[in-house]
Amino acid sequence: MTAWTGLNLIAELKPGHRVLVSAASGGVGSLAVQLAKAAGCHVVGIADSQAKCEWLESLGVTAVNYRDKDAAALTSALSEASPDGFDIYYENVGGPLMEAALANLRDHARIAICGLIDRYNATEPGGGPSNLNQLLFRKA
Ligand SMILES: NC(=O)c1ccc[n+]([C@@H]2O[C@H](COP(=O)([O-])OP(=O)(O)OC[C@H]3O[C@@H](n4cnc5c(N)ncnc54)[C@H](OP(=O)(O)O)[C@@H]3O)[C@@H](O)[C@H]2O)c1
Repeated sequence: MTAWTGLNLIAELKPGHRVLVSAASGGVGSLAVQLAKAAGCHVVGIADSQAKCEWLESLGVTAVNYRDKDAAALTSALSEASPDGFDIYYENVGGPLMEAALANLRDHARIAICGLIDRYNATEPGGGPSNLNQLLFRKA
């Protein structure tokens, strides 16, 4: 229900959209990638291990491994995975992943902010994405 609602009611998923999902192998993310694939979208999922990425690829999802990548390296990896950017970012994580996603938005993109798991155990405020201006530039 969480994945469906975020994709369809908040992000207005349509066939052919380019969709990015963070925490793509988790409970919510794994449903989000499969629902977006079933709707006929080009789907990119972010996960942290070879095994998780291989599982995502077996679903027809283009996988990006975020381990040992800072925001700049992630930005490049996402751009390679979807050179025309993303219409939808299904956000489960925040932090550097959000920064990389913001750098790869298409005009009028939508972001369904489902969760920000990167911060749940943090004891101090985080740095946050340095490029929130992309929301303005991309009319997201
Ligand atoms: N809005 C709502 O109604 C609602 C409902 C349910 C859940 N949520 C939110 O949805 C998100 C996912 O929940 P879930 O139930 O799917 O959790 P889950 O099954 O525990 O999966 C969470 C995934 O997050 C990834 N992760 C954890 N820490 C990370 C970090 N620092 N950077 C990047 N990835 C990280 C892990 O994947 P890797 O191994 O690939 O790192 C893990 O597989 C959470 O933010 C949760 O709060 C929201």
